[in-house]
Amino acid sequence: MLADRIVSDHVRKQLAIRAVTSAGIDEGNHTEMRFDVFTLLPEVMHAYLLSSVIGKARESGIIEVKLHNIRDYTLDRHHTTDDEPYGGGGGMVMKPEPIFAAVESVLGEEIHTTPILLLTPQGKTFHQEVAHELAKHDRLALICGRYEGVDERVRQYLATDEVSVGDYVLTGGELPAMIVIDTVARLHPGVLGDMEATQKDSYSSGLLEHPHYTRPASFRGWEVPEVLLSGDHARIASWRREQSLLRTLLRRPELLEQAELDEADRQILDRMTE
Ligand SMILES: C[S@@+](CC[C@H](N)C(=O)[O-])C[C@H]1O[C@@H](n2cnc3c(N)ncnc32)[C@H](O)[C@@H]1O
Repeated sequence: MLADRIVSDHVRKQLAIRAVTSAGIDEGNHTEMRFDVFTLLPEVMHAYLLSSVIGKARESGIIEVKLHNIRDYTLDRHHTTDDEPYGGGGGMVMKPEPIFAAVESVLGEEIHTTPILLLTPQGKTFHQEVAHELAKHDRLALICGRYEGVDERVRQYLATDEVSVGDYVLTGGELPAMIVIDTVARLHPGVLGDMEATQKDSYSSGLLEHPHYTRPASFRGWEVPEVLLSGDHARIASWRREQSLLRTLLRRPELLEQAELDEADRQILDRMTE
């Protein structure tokens, strides 16, 4: 594949995902989702993609992440990827030609069916519901900007969506791209040991999650709530639900308007607000 040819040897060595047949992995395992990241700085993403949950998910072939250096798609002798803004003003703007060339040649025919996300502070704010939507696709492309951002024609004629990770401005789109990949990847079965955990996560359930404790039961005189040591699963479940409701009420009350609540939940909330 062209994408394989253009990725530098180092990146390919680190990130090429093979059909995995190693210990503990089914031979029939298939990639559930592929992420193509278009960036000027692929190296800043390596460590994260090789580590922990995301590293394991890649190794087991559940997800595939390909880093494409936009500079590899320049045609001029100096490999120019940016230029001064028309109309003057400070900063540089990423040129459209190498970005279009990179995305078009990597995606090929799939350009018509793959969401192409432009990371930008001006985009739609990324949140858990957006992650669930994106996780339904088997391929995602992510374009990372640098400098003042990308030429407007990338946004108009190439990107299908614009995603912001929050109302603040970072130096580049690589961290935002990692946030999207990490959040979406962990929604795929097999990426986390306990899939049920993602359903109980803050936001997925519509509420903030209850607090967690681990050993020791007493630390500097601060005790773990007695109920969690009781072994009584029903009591523990109702304590957790109550804590979850309380946290949401105190920290993010607006979430309660959309959350799925039953009669018992409403009674608990009524008691809390009396
Ligand atoms: C310095 S920023 C450019 C900001 C741009 N001049 C503006 O004011 O909208 C450079 C790049 O970082 C990325 N970036 C910065 N903040 C971001 C955010 N909150 N969400 C997503 N991407 C962001 C984008 O890819 C952007 O093109």
